[in-house]
Amino acid sequence: MSELVINNLHVAIEDKEILKGLNLTVRQGEIHAIMGPNGTGKSTLAYSLMGHPNYDVTDGEAFFKGENVLDLETDERSHLGLFLAFQYPVAIPGVTVANFLRTALNAHRKATNPEDKGMPIPEFRKLLKERMDLLKMDHSFAGRYLNEGFSGGEKKRAEILQMATLKPEIAILDETDSGLDIDALRIVSEGVNALRGPEFGAVVITHYQRILNYIQPDFVHIMLEGRIVESGGPELALQLEEQGYDWVREKYSLVVS
Ligand SMILES: Nc1ncnc2c1ncn2[C@@H]1O[C@H](COP(=O)(O)OP(=O)(O)OP(=O)(O)O)[C@@H](O)[C@H]1O
Ligand SMILES: [Mg+2]
Repeated sequence: MSELVINNLHVAIEDKEILKGLNLTVRQGEIHAIMGPNGTGKSTLAYSLMGHPNYDVTDGEAFFKGENVLDLETDERSHLGLFLAFQYPVAIPGVTVANFLRTALNAHRKATNPEDKGMPIPEFRKLLKERMDLLKMDHSFAGRYLNEGFSGGEKKRAEILQMATLKPEIAILDETDSGLDIDALRIVSEGVNALRGPEFGAVVITHYQRILNYIQPDFVHIMLEGRIVESGGPELALQLEEQGYDWVREKYSLVVS
């Protein structure tokens, strides 16, 4: 089983330090939830793991399959089995959902086998339909431009469609639950649970305990000011829901505002 081991990660944005020595290990087969107040660095963690150019890694490492992924290009991180579902997915006018996914899938296949000629179109269509059915998405989405004019919830569903098609080994879901209606939350969670197994690990970033009723985490971490300060089981999320973050700030001697 592969594991993603993040050691002492320091990340700055425009010279401001956001992540201040973050440690986290995620093994395939495990679901980790990360909760934490706004602005604490959760998306910064997600972006820096995938190689967003605005995020400067100033110290630390993130090992996966024997490589420090922080040294790799974003596409290489993806080929290695990492995936990010964005908090704010961007629209790509001119690129349909089907074309986007087929290009990504074929790039993955070529990365493992340079001789690969790509998935035959009929096979791809069948796969895409199956995955869309899993997420209860209308098939017409396949022909629409990625995220263009999608509602908030549709964008989140499209992110999970990408995940279900690419089948990553470790996925980071950045607030995939926000903006989803009650039914969509359940459907998207079922989509995530369908991938669950010894080959799949995930980091579920969320503000609300609710999604964790559907996607039951093995571990819950609390992030505060650029570090993970508390780790526990699902009960930690329930405690946060009841008590908020003040007790965490007090415990770590941070000013309660
Ligand atoms: N370009 C930038 N210049 C300065 N500060 C930035 C920039 N981009 C992000 N930040 C700051 O980095 C901090 C961490 O942001 P991040 O998006 O990682 O927080 P988050 O934990 O994901 O919050 P949320 O729960 O609201 O999504 C914030 O204080 C944010 O204002
Ligand atoms: Mg965020």
